Amino acid sequence: MKAHSPELQTNGSRPFFLHITPKIVLILTITFLLLTVIPLCLFPLLTTSITWRSLFPSSSNDPIAALRGTKGSCDIFRGEWVPDRHAPYYNETCWAIHEHQNCMKFGRPDTGFMKWRWRPDGCELPIFNPAQFLELMRGKSLAFVGDSVGRNQMQSLICLLLKASYLVDASFIQDDRFRRFYFPDYNFTVATFWSPFLVRSNEADPIGPTLTGLFNLYFDEPDTNWTTKMTEFNYVIISVGHWFFRPAMFYKNHQLVGCQSCRTPNITDLPKYYGYRMAFRTAFQVFNNLTKFKGTVILRTFAPSHFENGMWNEGGNCKRQQPYQRSEARLEGINFEMYRAQMEEYNAAAREGRKKGVKFRLLDATEAMLLRPDGHPSQYGHLPSANVTLYNDCVHWCLPGPIDMWNDFLLQILKNEGSKSAMGRWFPIL
Ligand SMILES: *[C@@H]1O[C@H](CO)[C@@H](O)[C@H](O)[C@H]1NC(C)=O
Ligand SMILES: *[C@@H]1O[C@H](CO)[C@@H](O)[C@H](O)[C@H]1NC(C)=O
Ligand SMILES: *[C@@H]1O[C@H](CO)[C@@H](O)[C@H](O)[C@H]1NC(C)=O
Ligand SMILES: *[C@@H]1O[C@H](CO)[C@@H](O)[C@H](O)[C@H]1NC(C)=O
Ligand SMILES: *[C@@H]1O[C@H](CO)[C@@H](O)[C@H](O)[C@H]1NC(C)=O
Ligand SMILES: *[C@@H]1O[C@H](CO)[C@@H](O)[C@H](O)[C@H]1NC(C)=O
Repeated sequence: MKAHSPELQTNGSRPFFLHITPKIVLILTITFLLLTVIPLCLFPLLTTSITWRSLFPSSSNDPIAALRGTKGSCDIFRGEWVPDRHAPYYNETCWAIHEHQNCMKFGRPDTGFMKWRWRPDGCELPIFNPAQFLELMRGKSLAFVGDSVGRNQMQSLICLLLKASYLVDASFIQDDRFRRFYFPDYNFTVATFWSPFLVRSNEADPIGPTLTGLFNLYFDEPDTNWTTKMTEFNYVIISVGHWFFRPAMFYKNHQLVGCQSCRTPNITDLPKYYGYRMAFRTAFQVFNNLTKFKGTVILRTFAPSHFENGMWNEGGNCKRQQPYQRSEARLEGINFEMYRAQMEEYNAAAREGRKKGVKFRLLDATEAMLLRPDGHPSQYGHLPSANVTLYNDCVHWCLPGPIDMWNDFLLQILKNEGSKSAMGRWFPIL
């Protein structure tokens, strides 16, 4: 198994982040008969729960497609990276790039990693069009809730949008964890809310059992730093990740219910994806419980790190200069468990949301990013002399770089909002 980094802290600066038998013919015939007999109003129910899940064996061999409920003409989240000679679409002079992700500035010698685009199987994903994005967001607002990888996407979005318009800093407080930017020409606001665990948390011990700190996580108490502001937003992109690999004590209803890597006798050590599941459960409940929230919740899924030859703190690094081909990487082990945990919570919340009028949408970055071991800062996220904990950063993404594509996904999601059937099926992308 590859090593996973907890998201780390840089010294002296802000916290940092991180598969034809006659039987089938018979089944198909019966299905066809059912479909023609059953009135159209029951169709959605039938397609999701019966046709796709159990009748087609391929779905059970493809747990990812099953979790995603993939149906319709094109799954934009599955595909491959193909060369793009026009990329990148901005450069290292964009002021919004965070120091530690400005790889060209810190001397990354190869530039090939910037020259790829995502090509979904069976359709095209257009490259981000900033003017179109801003037009769709006119008079609207977008919030990023999560950790520094979420912020990493926001900074990519800003660099892409600055090609078409300008912004003003409209932050309420001078704290990089809680920024707000306003595009006057479009009356569009984009904000970021720092919440690496989504739920209330505090640091119990800055050193802890593994020298990376020990956190207390209160799973039934959402982090009010973001929950209190959500009714102001039309779209909320929620994502967290690598902080859940750190040692932590888990509380529910004020009771210690277990821990993760706490190395304390008599305390149940729970798997790493347990906390991740619980945090998403609570965070999604927040939206389903907020009667005043009329927006759309977008889950940006887990983005795997790519440490090789050791853990993040054992000299592990990510030195590749090209994406993996599909056959070279599989979503498995802890990466798959993290993905499964959040997707199961997402699917449950989306069902609940349909009853309550809260829209849930998926920005599934997991498979695409698994294929990008070349997109991380590695040692080019700082000066060679800098004293940083995450010396070789294989968690965040260079800007410009592969996560610019997350905004291609985002624009598709926004476009589909207008042209989508009530079932939430994807239309072919034109
Ligand atoms: C970077 O982009 C800016 C603005 O588009 C452009 O003026 C500049 O020449 C570019 N710099 C490099 C090094 O490509
Ligand atoms: C800007 O958008 C907000 C909603 O986000 C709306 O309340 C406000 O009236 C708009 N302002 C202008 C000047 O159009
Ligand atoms: C909320 O934000 C403040 C900084 O404004 C921070 O001190 C506090 O720890 C945050 N709360 C949580 C649960 O992260
Ligand atoms: C663990 O539990 C056992 C049995 O309840 C008890 O005897 C022991 O003292 C406990 N150890 C610690 C460190 O709490
Ligand atoms: C949401 O509401 C349900 C039902 O009232 C409650 O059990 C749950 O604790 C609430 N969750 C949050 C995060 O507020
Ligand atoms: C790097 O920073 C840590 C924590 O601030 C400090 O303990 C350590 O001595 C520093 N190392 C060097 C080489 O400066």
